[in-house]
Amino acid sequence: MSISSPVQIRSLQKVGQIVASTIRTMRAAATPGMTTAELDRIAFDHFNEQGARSAPELTYGFPGQTCISVNEEIAHGIPGSRVLKDGDLVNVDVSLECDGFFADSGASFCLGNASAEKQRLCETSFRILEETVASVRGGMPIRNIGRRIQSMATEAGYNVILNLAGHGTGSALHEEPYDILNYEDPRDMRTLEAGAVIAIETFISTGAQFALEGSDGWTLTTHDGSFVAQFEHTLIVRNQEPLILTL
Ligand code: CO
Ligand code: CO
Repeated sequence: MSISSPVQIRSLQKVGQIVASTIRTMRAAATPGMTTAELDRIAFDHFNEQGARSAPELTYGFPGQTCISVNEEIAHGIPGSRVLKDGDLVNVDVSLECDGFFADSGASFCLGNASAEKQRLCETSFRILEETVASVRGGMPIRNIGRRIQSMATEAGYNVILNLAGHGTGSALHEEPYDILNYEDPRDMRTLEAGAVIAIETFISTGAQFALEGSDGWTLTTHDGSFVAQFEHTLIVRNQEPLILTL
C-alpha cells in the first residue's frame, strides 16, 4: 500500500509493534525440548490478546499461526511435533493483521550451543538486513536493494536464495511491489515511491541458491542440507531514513 494519512501510519505502527513483540516473545521462549507447535501457541496467545490475527492463516489457509523453520528448512515451516534441539538454527516468521492492516517480520537465531558457522550466518544476515533497510530512500531503484544484499553476502562468503523475495505489504500480507529480490535484476526498472509500505527480507545461505518446496506443500528447504538465515522488516519508504514498523 501507499500511505495517504497519519491514521494509516498509526495503524501500521500498531500491528508492526505486535509483530515485533511476538518475535521477541518467541525468541525468549524457544528452548530445547519444546515442540514447534508449543512455540506457535505461545506466539498465538501473545498476539491474540492484543487483537491481531495470523496473516498467513487468514490469507492462504496456512496450517499454523506463525512459520517456524528449523535447520535445513528455509521458510514456511509448519508448527508441529518437531522437537527443538540444542544447536538448532531456528527461523520464526510472524505476519499479522490488526484492524485491516498488515505487517511482516522474521528472525533467525541459534538455540543453546550452536556451531560457530550457524552463529556467524545469523549475525551476517541480521547485519545485511539492518544496512539494507537503512539505505532505502524514496525514488531509489528497487534493484539496488538486491544489489546490496547480494554484494554483502558474497563479501562474507555466502550465497543468496534466488527464488525468495521481499514484497509490498500493509493492506494485504503480500501486494505490489512483488519480487524485491536478494540479487540485482538489471531488467527491473521499478523505483520505490515515498509512502510505499514494503517488507525487505534477507535469505543468506551457506550453499544452496534455490528454495525447494517440501512434500507438505508449504515448507521450503535446501536440497543439500545447507543453512539459510532470514531476517525481515516492514517499513515505510520516505525521502529520508525509512520508518521501520517492526523494530
Ligand atoms: Co515474513
Ligand atoms: Co514477507
